[in-house]
Parts: sequence; C-alpha cells; structure tokens
Amino acid sequence: MSVLIRGGRIITAADDYIADVFIDGERISLIGESLDIPADTVIDATGKYVLPGCIDPHTHLDMPFGGTVTIDDVESGQTAAAFGGTTCHVDFCIQPQGSSFSDALADWRSKAEGKQVIDMGYHIAVTDLREGGSLEELASLPDQGITSYKLFMAYKGALMVDDETLFKTMEVAADTGALVMVHAENGDAIDVLVKRALAEGHTEPHWHALTRPPETEGEATNRAIQLARVAGAPLYVVHVSCRESVEPIALAREKGWDVYGETCTQYLFVDYTFLERPNFEGAKFVYTPPPRDKANQEVLWNAVRNDVLSAISTDHCAFNWDGQKTLGKDDFSKIPNGGPGIENRLQMIHHFGAREGRISLNRMVELLATNPAKLFGLYPRKGTLAVGSDADVVVFDPEKRVTISARTHHSKIDYNLFEGTEVQGSPEVVLLRGNVLVEGDSLVAKPGIGQFVKRAKFGDELKPARLAPSAA
Ligand code: URP
Ligand code: ZN
Ligand code: ZN
Repeated sequence: MSVLIRGGRIITAADDYIADVFIDGERISLIGESLDIPADTVIDATGKYVLPGCIDPHTHLDMPFGGTVTIDDVESGQTAAAFGGTTCHVDFCIQPQGSSFSDALADWRSKAEGKQVIDMGYHIAVTDLREGGSLEELASLPDQGITSYKLFMAYKGALMVDDETLFKTMEVAADTGALVMVHAENGDAIDVLVKRALAEGHTEPHWHALTRPPETEGEATNRAIQLARVAGAPLYVVHVSCRESVEPIALAREKGWDVYGETCTQYLFVDYTFLERPNFEGAKFVYTPPPRDKANQEVLWNAVRNDVLSAISTDHCAFNWDGQKTLGKDDFSKIPNGGPGIENRLQMIHHFGAREGRISLNRMVELLATNPAKLFGLYPRKGTLAVGSDADVVVFDPEKRVTISARTHHSKIDYNLFEGTEVQGSPEVVLLRGNVLVEGDSLVAKPGIGQFVKRAKFGDELKPARLAPSAA
C-alpha cells in the first residue's frame, strides 16, 4: 500500500516547509516538491500541518492503583490517544512486590494482546529488589528493548522505594544504558502530613495538595539528581509541577549533567483552586504531584520554552469520578490519584502554546514527539518526518474549532480535565506506519494494528534496519 500526502506544511523539530510526502508500505519513502507518483491513497493536505505522530512517554493504562484499576485499558486509552494525534506511547509496567520483572512484563503484555491501536513500549517500574526482581534481571531488560527504569519516591506503603533501591537501580542503569525515571516527592514527609491532616479531621480533596507541598517535590528532585550524579546514570524527572523542582533541574542542566524533565499538560492549565470545587468535584483534579498555585504555570511555560524541561507528557491515569474517585468521599487519601489527558495534549499545546505564541511550532513538535523519541530510544524511527522513518503522521487542521468535552472524547472516563475549553486546531487524519488510523471522527483501523517497539538504549538510535548505514 502507498499513500501520497499532498501539499501540506511539514513541521518537524527543525523544519517548516511545504512539500509532498510519499509513503511506501510502513515508512516514509520520499519527501519532495510536487511529487508525481501514483499512490493507492492520496490525501490533500493543502492548508494543513503535516506533523510526526506524537509520542506520549508517560501513561498508565489498565493499571491497578489506589484500590481500583484505571478505567482506560489498552484499547480505549490508545483509541483516545490516536484521535489526539499520538501514535506511540511508553506505558509503565509496574513490578508487583515479590514478582520478577519478567512475570510483570508478561502480565502487562497480555493486557495489550490484540488490543493495540497504536505502537507502544514499556518502562519497568521497580518496586522491590529484595524479594522480587534481582539486579541481574534488571540489567537484562535493556537488551529486550525495555530501556528505562522508573522509581517512585512517594506513595509510601505502596509503590515507594527507599534510597538504597533507588541508588542500586541507578548503578545498574549506568552500566546497562537505561534511563532512570523518578517520581520525585518525599514520600516519608508526605505520609506524616497526610496522617496529621486526617487526625485533625481534614478530609476534603484540596488536602491532597496541602499535604504535598512543593518543597517535598523540590527536595526529592534534588536528591535524585545528586544520587544519579554519584551513580553516573542519566536521569529523567517525570511530571514536574513547580518552581521547586524546575530549579534543581535547571541547575543540573547548566552544569551539563545528564538530567532531563517533563511536565504534563494539566500542570500548565489546572491550578490549586480546582481542588476546592464544591460537591466533591475537586476530586477530579486529585493527581500527583497536585495542581499547584497558578504562578507555577508561567515557570513551567518558561521551562518548556527554554529547554529546562524536555517533554510534555500526559500522565494519563484515568479514574471515573463516579464510583472510583468517590472511594475517597470521606478521606482525601483514598481518592485514586490520577487524571486523564491522553487525547487533548496536542490540541491544548498547539492552541495555548504555539498559537498564542508561548512556544514555536517547531518546539511544539520537539516537546511532543522528537524529544520523547530521542530520550526513550525511538528516534529516528519515530518522532520525526524523514526518509526511512515510520510513517506515523498527523495531518492537522490548524483552523478547526473544537470544544473539549467528556461528551465527545474517546476515553472511557466520565469527565475531562479541560471540559469546555475551546481550542483552534485538531488532528484530521492520523496514520500509523502508513495505515490510516483516524479520519475525522472515525477510527478506521482495527485494534491489533499497534505493535510493541523494542527501544534502543539511552543515547542510541533506533534506525529501520534497511536504512541503517552499514558498519563498513
Ligand atoms: O496521580 C498520578 N500521577 N497517578 C499516576 C501515578 C503517578 O504518580 O504517575
Ligand atoms: Zn508519578
Ligand atoms: Zn504517572
């Protein structure tokens, strides 16, 4: 099968020009001016942007957490992603305490079987190096294409690891070429604050934020940076939400250390006051780290603009308000932590970032596609539009007006963090490896089309075999 995308404005992290894209099979075969080549499918992209498929490096699909399971499984979560122009994501495979990493991976792979709508990889979330996975097993994972290790420095009594586990994992990463990811919050201090607040009778959702002050994020971010430096491992700090965490990352990067950070769409738009909404509506915004004071939003926009932060992910971790968030009706600490967002990242960042002049279109592509691909071993197979790259393409209509709503989104969740927000610009056609996935309001391709991608080690490239330069 071949596809010709005609006359669109091609935007990558580096370029912006009008051209045609010819796709032969699963990959981009030619990019040029006025290509006169017959194709099975011709897409007229005049007046549209042609973008690389976006990559979401931080999602939680079909994940048990907080006494329940996320409402989006692989099929519904990836369908929502596809409508939003995301063609590849890296999900967290969580090692249950006492389990080996291979058992955890087999379990997570089975959840994806036959359901994949887009391509995906896994980060392994290390929770237990004593009874479950061994350091040797951890060291074997990068050769299987699992090239990032995630550690939670919070969620005491559940996913949290101690500094010994964190540091030993970092040492393994330094040896094996994996990237270490941290959820940076001081879980011990937060545990004290949560218990005290509950003992004093504070049960409402906004206490989620009051018991997780920004300093606890800043402290853990700095600790992780210093420990990664000692271990000699590269570090990626997930869901950065505030100045206290941005500053140590900025300092480390100024020094030239291998330190990277992401923020998520919601931290740029949702602030602390959302948690105070009456009638338990505030529970919709209980995710971790919590929504912060509004002043942090400018700090985060500056950080994504100035390359202090390298990516914007979604941390899509969807729980229904009715029946799941309500588990914490009388106790904020029992509200499952997490929010949705996998479908609206490109729309939101395009409108409020690129369209309103906070970042350039090139930077938008870099934050949503190219940098995630580079950091997580998918580039240049994914994350750009180039000859030989997977034909993961978004034909994006920059004029289309959309009102974001749970009534029209494709996730199974019963609310949307950005409900009622009006944006201009939305994906029109989305292709995955040359297959039309989404066309307007229709999902064209069937679940099962998505593949697991074996990712390259940190700093290495993932080239399609036929196009890799020969070793000679
Ligand atoms: O609240 C959140 N972010 N839930 C998902 C788990 C995590 O911490 O990323
Ligand atoms: Zn987290
Ligand atoms: Zn997360």
